Amino acid sequence: MDETGFVMCGALVHSTDAEPLEIMQHKCIGVKEGKIVFIENEDALSEKIKEFGIPQTDITYLKKGQFLCPGFVDTHLHAPQYPNCGKGLDMGLLDWLQTYTFPTEAKFSDLKYADMVYRKAVRRVLRNGTTTGCYFATLHTDATLLLCDVINEYGQRAYVGKVNMNIGSPDFYIESSVEESLSETKRYIEEVKKRNYPHITPIVTPRFALSCCQELMSKLGDLAKAYDLPIQTHICETRDEVRIVGETFPGCESYAAVYDKAGLLTDKMVLAHGIYLSDNEIALIKARNSAISHCPNSNFSIRSGVLDLRRLEEARIKVGLGTDISGGYHPSMLNAIRTAVFVSNIHHIEAEHANYKALSVHEAFRLATLGGAKALGLDNRIGNFAVGKDFDALLIDPSADGSHVDVLPDDSFSDSVDKYLYNGDDRNILSIYVAGRKVIS
Ligand code: GUN
Ligand code: FE
Repeated sequence: MDETGFVMCGALVHSTDAEPLEIMQHKCIGVKEGKIVFIENEDALSEKIKEFGIPQTDITYLKKGQFLCPGFVDTHLHAPQYPNCGKGLDMGLLDWLQTYTFPTEAKFSDLKYADMVYRKAVRRVLRNGTTTGCYFATLHTDATLLLCDVINEYGQRAYVGKVNMNIGSPDFYIESSVEESLSETKRYIEEVKKRNYPHITPIVTPRFALSCCQELMSKLGDLAKAYDLPIQTHICETRDEVRIVGETFPGCESYAAVYDKAGLLTDKMVLAHGIYLSDNEIALIKARNSAISHCPNSNFSIRSGVLDLRRLEEARIKVGLGTDISGGYHPSMLNAIRTAVFVSNIHHIEAEHANYKALSVHEAFRLATLGGAKALGLDNRIGNFAVGKDFDALLIDPSADGSHVDVLPDDSFSDSVDKYLYNGDDRNILSIYVAGRKVIS
């Protein structure tokens, strides 16, 4: 199926810059060597398979009601926090980190434990339709390499970061020096490069300003530049955190300025949360062309705050959605989509002006696919269906056996898509493709 390519015929549902949700019925989409080679009306099928040398036996016809959509892009999640999904959500961020998160992450010095958890975590995330994940791992280089192996084995696309922390952390979970943190990060990057994974990129990962000193952050900024790598961290997630960052870095005008001073605010930076960014910080992030990962489940679950997405959109900042496992308890991007709509509805309800426009579920779907791809700088490869992009896709059946969606006779095709977005889950995802390869099913 791989060398000669394949064709799928039926409905395509995806996002473009112009349309948050576009439905294209009666299409055929051709895939060769993992890439989309044509998207045509069904009546051009015989001509196209001849042109691309695709055998008749490699044509799949979707059943009535089924559709293909792009795989989800989770722009922020912590694989080692997977054991805590749905646990320990009774504290705010900084206590939560010390009480639940750091002790859990410390366990990943044990490679056997890491292997067991990472297999479960990656499988669960991929099974829920996340074809691209932007992962935090832990401080441990070897366990982070093991996470890369697991992701590669399951066939997911990913950015994977070895976390850096040299201040503000407990003795049992901290790096002993700037030098150790840097040399281990270099070892990690070099080893990932050597392993030549087809779809995994290392990402430089200073945890946040309260766990890295200014020198470490600056050196990580240099490292990201030298290797031309993406960077990820957290910013302005809670009021307490913002206040303490101000006290810790009195020479910097803002939280974003701390990262900027270190050379970390680049066009390859993904900043998780950003709820409490000031107007100046938003302008700085825009000027540097960094992206924000909006993680609504996490922001509700550990009661961080209510992000105003429209503010970021008005500033034309790149925004993707994230589950933030396990600040967020749910591994599915469908949950992130629904929760993002709810967050926006809160702003609508509370708005002083009746014209506050809440996020539609279609816009949230776009954030979870094309928006995430843009946030990660991968929109030339993934995010929607276009000739030349990789085929990262989900085969969806809104009426799948055992699913929670009932498509009724009065429902239009578009209604069935919306019902899936609101009530669907992994039971509706019949197949998952990354770069044209069927991964788990
Ligand atoms: N800020 C620093 N570390 C973390 C983390 O692990 N999760 C979340 N949600 N915020 C953080
Ligand atoms: Fe996080």
